[in-house]
Amino acid sequence: MQQNLSAKPNLKPATLAVLIQCAALFTVLSVTWAIYWLTTIIFNINLTYPIFTLVLLQALFAAFFSYLTGMAIWWRWIHLGFPVAIWMMSILHIPNAFYLLGFIVTLSLYWTTFRTQVPFFPSRPVIWQQVLSLIPQNRPIRMIDIGSGLGGLSMCVAKARPECLIEGIEIAPLPWLISLVRAKLKRSRAVFKFGDYRALNFANYDVIFAYLSPAAMQALWQKSHAEMRSGSLLISYEFEIPDAPPLSVISNDDQGKMLYVWKMP
Ligand SMILES: C[S@@+](CC[C@H](N)C(=O)[O-])C[C@H]1O[C@@H](n2cnc3c(N)ncnc32)[C@H](O)[C@@H]1O
Repeated sequence: MQQNLSAKPNLKPATLAVLIQCAALFTVLSVTWAIYWLTTIIFNINLTYPIFTLVLLQALFAAFFSYLTGMAIWWRWIHLGFPVAIWMMSILHIPNAFYLLGFIVTLSLYWTTFRTQVPFFPSRPVIWQQVLSLIPQNRPIRMIDIGSGLGGLSMCVAKARPECLIEGIEIAPLPWLISLVRAKLKRSRAVFKFGDYRALNFANYDVIFAYLSPAAMQALWQKSHAEMRSGSLLISYEFEIPDAPPLSVISNDDQGKMLYVWKMP
């Protein structure tokens, strides 16, 4: 049943999540109205229940619908937590400015996640060291981190390989701004651009590093295959490319995530 239903929605996860919360709200209202009708009109009993019961019902229905529509498992927790979080915040009487600030920060951090389906989460220094060991050692190279986040990887490589041109491109304004400020403060040679990597010409790079998401990998492979020069490297952290066996897989990560390396033919 889950498989049949999960094949139906062809929506972005965020859109589906909103629809699920709406469906859960509609279900909760229908159930409470039916109970009200039965108890008050038919049995003449005046039943009252705390608002938290409704919040919990909303959370449970939303998580259940998320299961039925085949959303990834973490969405069930988000659906469970969302109504409860709203209820808790409503009783805390937090000033409106706090919500505005939260909205602005979230928007600048996850600016285009809805469209790209690649959220922001940084890689760690242990990965940067592994990437350093993978890039060609015997000549200056031009490398870019596509979706450079806070810029840690690019700055690390730029420091270790000062003869190379190391760049990062980031589509979300806040991480990009932070990477720019960090590079200035650290006097890093890494160059950070604000923009969409899909508009770049990959032929200009010897090494391309990507830490994106499964949703982006197929298109990334097509672009890399079409544009990258023979002998250049595509390195992806954590995410594989379906039907494109990598040249090597490195697994020194304590979290069990891999680095995948493809060398262009
Ligand atoms: C998982 S984070 C990785 C950050 C960084 N590369 C690192 O290793 O710490 C992915 C980043 O890619 C950015 N991104 C997603 N799609 C993008 C695009 N089309 N062009 C540029 N950046 C993009 C996101 O905003 C996010 O900051």
